[in-house]
Amino acid sequence: MEVFLGEWLNLLLRWTHLVVGIGWIGTSFYFMALDYTLSKRERMNPGVLGTAWQLHGGGFYHVEKYTVAPPQLPLGLHWFRFEAYLTWVTGFGLMIVQYYMHASAYLIDPAVMALQPWQAIAISLGSIGAGYAIYETICRSRIGENTPMLALCVFALIVLSSLLYTKIFSGRGAFVHVGALTGTIMAVNVFAIIIPNQKKMVAQLLRGETPDARYGAIGKQRSTHNNYLTLPVILMMVSPHYPFLFSHSHAWLIVALILISGALIRHYLNRVDAGDDWSSFGWAAPIAAIALLAAIFFTAPRARDLGTGAVSDAEALTITQKHCVTCHAAKPTHESFQDAPKDITLETIADLRKYAKLIFVQTVQSNAMPLGNQTGMTEDERAKLGRWIATQK
Ligand code: HEC
Repeated sequence: MEVFLGEWLNLLLRWTHLVVGIGWIGTSFYFMALDYTLSKRERMNPGVLGTAWQLHGGGFYHVEKYTVAPPQLPLGLHWFRFEAYLTWVTGFGLMIVQYYMHASAYLIDPAVMALQPWQAIAISLGSIGAGYAIYETICRSRIGENTPMLALCVFALIVLSSLLYTKIFSGRGAFVHVGALTGTIMAVNVFAIIIPNQKKMVAQLLRGETPDARYGAIGKQRSTHNNYLTLPVILMMVSPHYPFLFSHSHAWLIVALILISGALIRHYLNRVDAGDDWSSFGWAAPIAAIALLAAIFFTAPRARDLGTGAVSDAEALTITQKHCVTCHAAKPTHESFQDAPKDITLETIADLRKYAKLIFVQTVQSNAMPLGNQTGMTEDERAKLGRWIATQK
């Protein structure tokens, strides 16, 4: 019953996380595009930077953006912040129910580093805090004034984090932490910089002062960082479902390529929204494509030496019974599972034949299974299982 309710909690958190995340990223895309499509028109209210006409859902909308702020605080001002806060809160909730509560299955791989669950959780929390602190320090330093330098440093920080994470956590744990760190940077940008700066501007308006444009500019810089990080962060969050991404021996390289392609695709789309001439941003498309192709190339399955010697059905079954059936059984004995994960049972030779291709991908081509390699499956056993699968029709 506990496991069952835990699954529901996981599902409800994930559902909310997706919905509020879509809301957050949707506003990020929308406001970036809105900023780029604003144009100066013949008649504009005083203090207006530009306006945009938009058509959506059968209605015409007229939006004006103020250079700094309107002369008086308007009534019913809508703030965009809870999408970001809730995305982080539900994401952290998911981290707890999926990775902290089942640390030895999902977060720890004894072959990478033999950690106790509490140690893994402490490293997780500490590293996310430290990563954010470094990001904030870079933004506030003189580098923060130089956009290309800043972009390069943030890129280096995330790639470095992936290098460290892959030396500490299981593959999937490492990738999800790269996503969690990036997502935390984005959410704290909203919580600690963008919204407080907006509050300062509102307070100045209420005091009858002219709001300081610097606050708006800093907020816009962070908001732009967030926009460029949206595509990579989404891929990191779904990466646990794709073992070929994180089981690569230089997984940090894959992270770097995803960052490059994701940020460049975002850049390309932003410039399209801005109506720029293709010649000024077209270069982003081939580079993003090359980065993606490189990622596909690096993650392509390598021919693996499976060794020689026939492997009998009984031997194959012995291996899976030792390493798989605690979870992949109609009635799993593993404490974290109530039903066979993904409804895949591996209890009989017929089961093994049925799922042979999937087993090959998860266990022979990559080390994704057994989860967290808690049972200590050896390379020799993987090769043996591979040999058995190779002889199946
Ligand atoms: C500790 C529990 C556990 C053990 C042990 C385990 N698995 Fe899994 N397995 C899982 C979970 C959880 C999933 C679902 C993963 C996901 O959602 O990404 C899974 C998924 C799979 C999948 C489906 C992958 C997909 O997404 O298509 C295959 C195939 C698989 N396991 C094979 C194996 C084999 C073979 C073994 C033994 C060598 C094994 N598993 C051992 C927990 C386990």
